Order: sequence, then structure tokens, then C-alpha cells
Amino acid sequence: MKLRVGVVGLGTVGRGVVKLFADSNNRLNQGLSLQAVSARDRERDRGVDLSGVRWFDDPLTLAAEPSIDVVVELIGGAEGPARRVVETALARGAHVVTANKALLALHGAALADIAEQSRAKLLFEAAVGGGVPMVKALKDSLAGCRATALAGILNGTCNYILTEMEASGRSFGEVLAEAQRFGYAEADPTMDVGGFDAAHKLAILASIAFGVRPDFEHVRVEGIERVTLTDIRLAGKLGYRIKLIAKASRTEGGVEMHVRPALLAFDHPLANVGGSLNALVVDADPVGQLTFLGRGAGEGPTAASVASDLMELAAGRAGPAFGRPLAELASAPRATPAERGRYYVRLLVADRPGVVASVSERLAHEGISIESFLQMPAPSAAAVPIVLTTQACPRAAVEKASMAIENLDVALEPPYVLPVEESGLRLVR
Ligand SMILES: NC(=O)c1ccc[n+]([C@@H]2O[C@H](COP(=O)([O-])OP(=O)(O)OC[C@H]3O[C@@H](n4cnc5c(N)ncnc54)[C@H](OP(=O)(O)O)[C@@H]3O)[C@@H](O)[C@H]2O)c1
Repeated sequence: MKLRVGVVGLGTVGRGVVKLFADSNNRLNQGLSLQAVSARDRERDRGVDLSGVRWFDDPLTLAAEPSIDVVVELIGGAEGPARRVVETALARGAHVVTANKALLALHGAALADIAEQSRAKLLFEAAVGGGVPMVKALKDSLAGCRATALAGILNGTCNYILTEMEASGRSFGEVLAEAQRFGYAEADPTMDVGGFDAAHKLAILASIAFGVRPDFEHVRVEGIERVTLTDIRLAGKLGYRIKLIAKASRTEGGVEMHVRPALLAFDHPLANVGGSLNALVVDADPVGQLTFLGRGAGEGPTAASVASDLMELAAGRAGPAFGRPLAELASAPRATPAERGRYYVRLLVADRPGVVASVSERLAHEGISIESFLQMPAPSAAAVPIVLTTQACPRAAVEKASMAIENLDVALEPPYVLPVEESGLRLVR
């Protein structure tokens, strides 16, 4: 018998899933049938034929409906109706397919627990990387490997903004406003540009890759709001491109996860991922380094990932939510980030004799050697932008030196520090 599917949420992704069901040639229709849908506004024309499909005004009623075998949650949000729908469906033993990264990053372990208790399956390929099969790659294709590190470009909005700033020479604010006009960025862009969306996705991937519980709270997050055109241009002059990188590594102390803008040499595997594309590089023994690249959002790609989860259910192939039973997922000790590497430091200082010497002195005091030094044309007679890169040193030393520089009376704004990501995935030490 075919699995009976109910789709909750008929926005961008929900509509895409209904369209796939409407294509009688799609293999989705061999093992599954769309029986029910729910959204807020029944009258809205969604450009899809919903005749013959049962409508539910209340998504919770659909989630509780015993004739539905699989609930597809496409409302979004870590709390509210999306969370209640998923909990309700799993608790009664219905399988759940969702694209909701925020929900999984914050409540993934609790939801996997409910699923295990009722022998239901919880699948979420669409939650990370849109149409790029990152979850299944880690969960299934690399099941026999030991992942050591992963790094990705997991937020298309940030990547689009940084790519456009570089290509068009426009500021962060101008490109963001344009992205909002075109619908690439939300009216409230905080989740994207603040790095939180990428951090949700990283917490999910790290859980599967390293066999730990999803743990969003321990991802160190820094967004792209402070990246200026000057940074992008100067990084370019020095041979680097700035990207928002989500990275997780297995270290001696546990699992280290962070999202932050970083300088990537032009030959880094993620440096040439442009526009709204997503990419993931995984380092795993014994397979080595693998790269996944493609469209990380949008109706078609994301719906295709939902469809692949549905077919996995229909084929009876679905395993535990995060690749291992919950009891086998470690509450990993968090790595204390004793990080070491090269750093880019941007300063804005008063145009006075001896300024460069004062800055160099503060760096030298922390044992930091300067690798390159660029002084830019001053935007005003009084303020001079200076950019330098350091040789490899502890991050703690750069932070200490930055504080000392900030306290100089010639410093006009706090120094902006970005790490240089070395090619290859090993943690810089
Ligand atoms: N868009 C993408 O490219 C993309 C990519 C990857 C993952 N995702 C994830 O996929 C999920 C859905 O995203 P989306 O872009 O499709 O969202 P969306 O376009 O905003 O659609 C949300 C849908 O949920 C419905 N909804 C909201 N509150 C509801 C409620 N209380 N009861 C019933 N229905 C409710 C809305 O109903 P109305 O239409 O009646 O207002 C709408 O149909 C999110 O978790 C998102 O993070 C999206």
C-alpha cells in the first residue's frame, strides 16, 4: 500500500512538493500519494491543483489524523506550530519529513527521542544545503568513514551578498537592500547575515558527521555585517576572497564548531563558490576530501530533497534521524578553542606621526609578527585605514593585541579581525 502523505505549509517549498506529486512520471507517485495539505489561507491561489486533496485549516489536526502516514512539515520556525506539528505526528508514530533547520538544531535530540519511542522516522535532507544531498552523504554514503572536519558555505544569502559586493563594488547595505527587493533576503535578515542560519545547519551536519547530539548553543557565531568593501578589496589584493565559512572539526578536546567570515586563498576549494550556491567540503578517513556543490535553496531544489526523503520512507530504508540511535550520540565535550593561525586585521587610525610604530609595538608585545602591511588612501584627512596580516600566532594573542590597539588614543574604531583559512581542512595550529 502507498504511504499517505500530508503536507503542512504551502509556501515556496510546500508548493514545490505538491508540484512533484502532480507530475505523474515522478517516481514519488510509485510508493506515496498526497492525501492532505494545510496552510493558513485556503483562498490563496498557489498555482497548484489541490482538487482531490483534503484541506486542513489547522495543521495540528492534520498531524494528528490517523489516516496520514507521513507528515511533511514546511511551515518553518523552531517553535510554534511547526514544532507542535512535528511532535504530534512523531508521538503517534507517523513519519516526519521536514526542511526546518532551526527546529532540528535546537530540538533535534528531543524530536529524535520521540521518534525512537514511537518507532517513527524523522528525515530532513532539505534542511541543509537545499538541493545538495549533504545529509545523506554524511549519514549513508560516508557511514563507514571517520569524519575529521567539515567546512561549508551554507547560507546562500550571505554568499550572494559577499559575491555581489566584490563583483559590483557596492556596500554591504546596498547589496542587502537589493537582495531584499528581489526576495533573496528576508525583511529581517538577522538569521542569514548574522550567521545563525548557517549555524543551525552546521549543528545538524556536525551531529551526523561526528556522532554527537545536535548542539546549536555551542556553535560560535559571527555574521558578515562588519565586512566592508575595503575588506573585500584589500583581501583581494593580498590574494584572498572573503566568505562566510561554517566549520566543524574533531579535536582532542571534543568537537569545535564555528561560523564566521574568513579569508580564503583563491585556490581554497570554497573560494570560488559564488552567488547563492552552497558547498560542503568533508575530510574523512579513509576516503579523503570530498566536495558537494549546488543550489542551496529555492522551490525546485528543496522540494527535490523532500522527495528523496519520502522515497526513502516508501522503500523502508530510513534509519535513525542523526545516523545513529540517540543513545549512541555523545554529548560531546566542547573543544576549548586554542586556535592558532594567520589573521587579517583592519584598523582605522588617526593620521599622526608614530601611529604605525605604536600599532607594531602592541603586536610585537604579544609575540605577533606582521606578514604584510597595507596603508590605504585616507577617506578623510584625519583617518587612515591600515590593514595587516599576521604570521601564524595564537588567536588569543591577536585578541589581546587588538584590545591594546583599541585603547590607543589614535584608534578611531575597534580593530576588525578575520582569520585566514588555510587550504585543506586541518585546524590551523
Ligand atoms: N525557501 C527555501 O528555499 C528553503 C530552503 C531550505 C529550507 N527551507 C525551509 O523550509 C521551510 C519552509 O520554507 P518556505 O520558504 O517554503 O516558507 P514560506 O514560503 O514562508 O511558507 C510557509 C508556509 O507555512 C504556512 N504557515 C505558516 N504558519 C502556519 C500555521 N500556523 N498553520 C498552517 N500553515 C502555516 C504558510 O501558510 P500561508 O501560505 O497560507 O500563509 C505558508 O504556506 C522552512 O523551515 C525553511 O527554513 C526553505
